[in-house]
Amino acid sequence: MTIQRTFSIIKPDATNRNLTGAINAKIEAAGLRIVAQKRVHMTKKQAETFYGVHAGKPFFDELVSFMTSAPVVVQVLEGENAIAKYREVMGATNPANAEEGTIRKEFALSIGENSVHGSDAEETAKIEIAQWFSGNEIVG
Ligand code: CMP
Repeated sequence: MTIQRTFSIIKPDATNRNLTGAINAKIEAAGLRIVAQKRVHMTKKQAETFYGVHAGKPFFDELVSFMTSAPVVVQVLEGENAIAKYREVMGATNPANAEEGTIRKEFALSIGENSVHGSDAEETAKIEIAQWFSGNEIVG
């Protein structure tokens, strides 16, 4: 059994529509534990750092502007194969391609306003968690 941690963001389109609880219910129903969570309003600098890998892409400015437009909820999720499991629960990046029952199929508005973010690999998860949480804020 591989217990992993992954990093999650409930994005502005979801917090604006009061969907934090509905999304958390899907996370918990999938067997993932929310071991850290806080609501923050990202600064431009924080968003640019977080999405640094996408700098220069055509959607980068829009992405930073969206992620700083309203509060988000940052989270650490823990569970068996948490990284892959959460990507399954989220569904495809573009909600048009997301499977039935996934968060993005149910709640996302577009590829940009797609309700949630989840880490794509173990190394990225470590970096993303470290940007938002110190060790003693994560209680497994
Ligand atoms: P996320 O998993 O947070 O990682 C990068 C984000 O960029 C992605 O989800 C999308 O919400 C956003 N994005 C906006 N436009 C695009 C695009 N054309 N292709 C990929 N990602 C996009």
